[in-house]
Amino acid sequence: MNDTTLANLGHEARRFAPPADLAANANLTAAAYEEAAADRLAFWHRQAERLTWQTPWHQVLDWSNPPFAKWFVGGRLNAAYNCVDRHVEAGAGEKVAFHWVGEPEGDTRDITYVQLLEEVCQAANALTELGVRAGDRVAIYMPMIPETVVAMLACARLGAPHTVVFGGFSADALASRVLDCGARVIITADGGYRRGAPSALKPAVDEAVAKTEAEQPGLVEHVLVVRRTGQDVSRSDKDVWWHDLVAGQPTTHTCEAFDAEHPLYVMYTSGTTGKPKGILHTTGGYLTAAAYTHWGVFDLKPETDVYWCTADVGWVTGHSYLVYGPLANQTTSVLYEGTPDFPHRGRWWEIVQDYKVTILYTAPTAIRTFMKWGDEIPAKFDLSSLRLLGSVGEPINPEAYVWYRETIGGGETPVVDTWWQTETGAIMISPLPGVTNAKPGSAMIPIPGVAADVVNDEGTSVPDGSGGYLVLKEPWPSMLRTLWGDDERFVETYWSRWKGMYFAGDGAKKDEDGDLWVLGRVDDVMNVSGHRLSTTEIESALVSHHKVAEAAVVGVSDDTTGQAVCAYVILRSAAGDGGPDIVKELRDHVAKEIGAIAKPRQIMIVPELPKTRSGKIMRRLLRDVAENRAVGDVSTLADSTVMNLISAGQSSAT
Ligand code: WTA
Repeated sequence: MNDTTLANLGHEARRFAPPADLAANANLTAAAYEEAAADRLAFWHRQAERLTWQTPWHQVLDWSNPPFAKWFVGGRLNAAYNCVDRHVEAGAGEKVAFHWVGEPEGDTRDITYVQLLEEVCQAANALTELGVRAGDRVAIYMPMIPETVVAMLACARLGAPHTVVFGGFSADALASRVLDCGARVIITADGGYRRGAPSALKPAVDEAVAKTEAEQPGLVEHVLVVRRTGQDVSRSDKDVWWHDLVAGQPTTHTCEAFDAEHPLYVMYTSGTTGKPKGILHTTGGYLTAAAYTHWGVFDLKPETDVYWCTADVGWVTGHSYLVYGPLANQTTSVLYEGTPDFPHRGRWWEIVQDYKVTILYTAPTAIRTFMKWGDEIPAKFDLSSLRLLGSVGEPINPEAYVWYRETIGGGETPVVDTWWQTETGAIMISPLPGVTNAKPGSAMIPIPGVAADVVNDEGTSVPDGSGGYLVLKEPWPSMLRTLWGDDERFVETYWSRWKGMYFAGDGAKKDEDGDLWVLGRVDDVMNVSGHRLSTTEIESALVSHHKVAEAAVVGVSDDTTGQAVCAYVILRSAAGDGGPDIVKELRDHVAKEIGAIAKPRQIMIVPELPKTRSGKIMRRLLRDVAENRAVGDVSTLADSTVMNLISAGQSSAT
């Protein structure tokens, strides 16, 4: 971590106190911190009572074999029942669960809880007909349409862990995830809408299935396809149309309760090596923490709030704060299929106005983009319904935070900057909207029930005013249980740096008041528009191109996306200078291998890479070049002239 960055951060004089009426009626008050501190497990016990259990647990936490935790031991429940059935049983069947807004204007649908229940039951019956049983894995590769949520809940209902793969990922990425978790069924759509045009998904599934067939014939038995755009799709004997199979099924389905530790889903995320990690979340603890945090951090009032989380369901934020948390809390949510700029740059604000959204949860990269587009765009819409704003995914710069609060929130609306990860399953560090005097740029302190700290290299807690590594010191209910099929990597990645502590991979600082400032990843993971990408994964993609001999990838600062991917590539001698389109060719290749989000912003063809004597690439120096800084200390390089070659190449290229 850079010392100047550290010193500059955390000197923030602005404070935003909670609005008086919010504070007076807040779901979580300052007492919650005390209750949780007095008896953390009793606190979590009470949070688990938000859910409906078929069999109660007899032990809150079994931590006898760390870091393998068991929460709510002996308890049994069904996640889909908790998200849907119980609300209908309680008389809220006619309440809207989702205001779905398709990308084409006017293409909308309101789905009530009773409709959601019927569709989930039909889908569960359909999956049963396809042979899906408790424990079987199902991959979901979909656009943002109601059937995606239905598919997830149908899997949960059957106890069949789902793995949702972001629709922007490539066929290769989908295939590797399907193979890693052994999915028998893939649920997909012909396509979705992107900026006014249908964008196909099914061809990528066909390609992925061909790949899985080559490696593990017969693994994927069925592909269930929703017709969304009406595009032509090729048909194979594995394919079944959703409207043929699901629509005719009975609208009732008796669900079974599963053990609290029954796997709910696997979500793949980038790690420090090229191979994505399958983060495993289980049922009882995960749903408890998703429901508790969604209710507490967003101060949710289910009777009156209209909540909108803009994340794609293909990311963990979509899982915890678009599906599981909100539905467990009987929320009315907006679900939007499209992009912020189609058909115009005020689309989001129009949706806020039309549906009178009260709580908005989005990412700094989107906020910075809106800032760039100008205040006059949101000013055209009535945003007065908003009473709470949330941010997630990367550090939010104080200026973006203040802009969000002022321009979108009208100056009175609290902003909760929520820190968490795919691995943590739920928000861990955040202001409480009715309690905290929030500082722009700081995620403040751990929420009640969570033990977070900043430690130094030795694992000792740092004093206020100092920086170090962000850790969690006590287990929490929505913690990842392991990496799918790889207990060893789970222990090594998260639990072996310091005894008894979860290492999050982020650097952080405690300011003079002890409030936390998350600085970003300290490992080889980049954060581009709030999406985690591993440098190694992109390097491997580049090296798999026949013209490439070696590649080094760094994340460099970018005003809009937080970080951007910058690649240095050495070509094979047989490739000569690579040809006039080499940069485009390589960018497209990365998009094909991983997905468009991983496309390098910049690719520099270089003769050499800076390496230490032991052969480790010195990314720090490459970052200096990419960010146009004077190149730092080169004394540990095996050949110190290399940087001159690279810098010279860079300046002649720009
Ligand atoms: C970063 C997304 C600063 C962090 C929920 C973390 C943040 C990674 C914040 C997890 C925040 C997330 N402030 N940094 N409020 N929220 N991050 O797994 O580096 O996609 O480790 O989960 O995003 O990304 P993931």
